[in-house]
Amino acid sequence: MRKLSLSLGLAVTAPVFSTAVDFEKELLPVFEAKCVECHKAPYEENGRTKKPKAGLRMDAAWAIQAGSENGSVLKAGDPGKSELFYRVTLPHDDDDFMPPQGKADPLTEAEVALFKTWIEEGADFGDWIGNTEGKPADTTNSGDKVPVSEIQEVYKRLAGSLPELKEEQWASVSEAGARVARISKKSPLVSVDFRLSPEKATPEAIGTIAAIAPHVSELDLSKTPVQGDSLSILTETKNLTRLNLSQTEIADDALKHIGQLKELRYLNLYGTKVSDTGLKHLYSLPNLEAVYLWQSKATPKGAKALEKALPEAKVNIK
Ligand code: HEC
Repeated sequence: MRKLSLSLGLAVTAPVFSTAVDFEKELLPVFEAKCVECHKAPYEENGRTKKPKAGLRMDAAWAIQAGSENGSVLKAGDPGKSELFYRVTLPHDDDDFMPPQGKADPLTEAEVALFKTWIEEGADFGDWIGNTEGKPADTTNSGDKVPVSEIQEVYKRLAGSLPELKEEQWASVSEAGARVARISKKSPLVSVDFRLSPEKATPEAIGTIAAIAPHVSELDLSKTPVQGDSLSILTETKNLTRLNLSQTEIADDALKHIGQLKELRYLNLYGTKVSDTGLKHLYSLPNLEAVYLWQSKATPKGAKALEKALPEAKVNIK
């Protein structure tokens, strides 16, 4: 007992030993080794301009704070709401895992823990500035001045037609096992993502989305046991722009629920049972830009027919 109280006393009276993470010394080398190659200022290679992936630069403090073409990626104090952190915690074979599988070494457990602590401590860059090339004149106090991309315009328009959304309103969805996050700061639009515990995506869990359906702009059900019937919820998510159903048992009949999603831009059906017949339900989606059909039951002929019906869409089948 004596020993225990002694060590407790020590822990309490020794804050001097718990120093904050030093970004430049401890975390920057990790980013430089594993992220910056793809996330840096535009540069020329073989006469072509290479742009940072997803518009995200990680070669400067201001750039990390400015975020990507989809908005903010880092929320000081809250790793759970920081896309930058979330991407390194996914299963390594997930499409969204960073760095992409096979392209650079994943972060080690110790590096992930360090990254998390750094965000929890306030995501302080210390004296590190990084590359000031391309820095807009007025990013000093807001982080909101990212160049506006087309999709951000879309989000803005969709958000404009919606009432505010409070976090309490999506509590039931989080409790059901999904990660719910705002598309950008203060936006009434959210993404709903079941990837961290796919087995929890039961029909009841997916049904909880009904409470916030018009606010859901991105839905990821990849690798979940989702069944076609559960997708009837999609008739209510009229502002959905991205839907990932890859590596599920979804088949043709399920796609009938998708035909109403006029705002849908991205649809991932990789590794599903969808065939050419089901693709006909997609002909009515004027804004569809990308469809993934790799390892589904669809044929190149079906993919071509879809591209003909939707000239703006890129249909990927291999
Ligand atoms: C080999 C190239 C490559 C490397 C290395 C890489 N990324 Fe990416 N990253 C991409 C591509 C491509 C995208 C866009 C596709 C996507 O969103 O998954 C992306 C997107 C992202 C996004 C999403 C931005 C948004 O809001 O849409 C984040 C966050 C991200 N990367 C963080 C990282 C981190 C952190 C590392 C290092 C641990 C890293 N990336 C390493 C290629 C890379």
